[in-house]
Amino acid sequence: MLESRPDTMERITNEEQANAYIQDQIAKMQAQIGDKKVLLALSGGVDSSVVAALLIKAVGQQLVCVHVNHGLLRKGEPEQVIEVFGKELGANLVYVDATDRFLDKLAGVTDPEQKRKIIGGEFIEVFAEEARKLDGIEFLAQGTIWPDILESDAGIKAHHNAGGLPEDMNFELVEPVRILFKDEVRVVGKALGLPDNMVYRQPFPGPGLGVRCPGAITRDRLEAVRESDAILREEFAKNGLEGKVWQYFTVVPDFKSTGVKDGKRTFDWPCIIRAINTTDVMEVTVEHLSDELIDHLVNRIITEVPGINRVLFDYTPKPPATVEYE
Ligand code: XMP
Repeated sequence: MLESRPDTMERITNEEQANAYIQDQIAKMQAQIGDKKVLLALSGGVDSSVVAALLIKAVGQQLVCVHVNHGLLRKGEPEQVIEVFGKELGANLVYVDATDRFLDKLAGVTDPEQKRKIIGGEFIEVFAEEARKLDGIEFLAQGTIWPDILESDAGIKAHHNAGGLPEDMNFELVEPVRILFKDEVRVVGKALGLPDNMVYRQPFPGPGLGVRCPGAITRDRLEAVRESDAILREEFAKNGLEGKVWQYFTVVPDFKSTGVKDGKRTFDWPCIIRAINTTDVMEVTVEHLSDELIDHLVNRIITEVPGINRVLFDYTPKPPATVEYE
């Protein structure tokens, strides 16, 4: 049942091609799923959002979307998933706010790989718990895309979206964007009417803001990451950089420095801005911002984000620096 991309398949670049693809996948999914139920972990990222929108068209209420908020999402993300899928598209959406559960497990954990393991493991656990509450699910939908298949075939990346679910959870996979490249997923998402800030969203790592709050995550420093990231995204959108710069975010490291505010000494964190461009994320160059934009960002972040008294810009390419700080 798992499709391979035909060698002759034309790259999907326009709405007409996207609509033809959508109709074709709807027919395939309806034939595969029949009157059974399908489960989807809906993160709000491009791939899972497009999969959700396709499945809603194909099987409507037979799709159950589970959105797990691990507390490490960007500002406004869970709200947008609820608005777009729960309200506008009328999806059968289960929203789980597991913030406390994740942050309690992460408390005091400083090792980056350990943090990733906890976040990944807890995610599977929460998702499996929700799946067990539902009756009669036979299918699991996934946002696997064609580069995932190519990379796992080449041994570069173990592709295991379904990996990690307990063995007794034996679902048949539904992968309606499996044969698409990322740019094609976006064209299809646009044709499905998903909002631009979902369709053209920059990459966001699974462990979320957790890896941008280096060392042991605390709620106050995590909030500083979330608020500064929201300001950066807002300013990039206003200045025409959204969808143009490949990835941009803020990091709030776990050290403090002296400052002065309203004539009083402060001892607060710095906020680091990272903005990069790349094609394959193996090599990365830095996006140079205008002096005006930098000044404006510094001013907004130091005045609007509690706990920040200094803003730094990271001019380091990859190599030697990775994109993320952990
Ligand atoms: P690095 O930091 O390795 O990042 O230069 C390259 C790209 O991968 C993303 N990244 C991750 N994505 N889980 C993910 O899903 C992760 O643990 C993870 N770590 C890094 C990063 O955001 C960048 O786009």
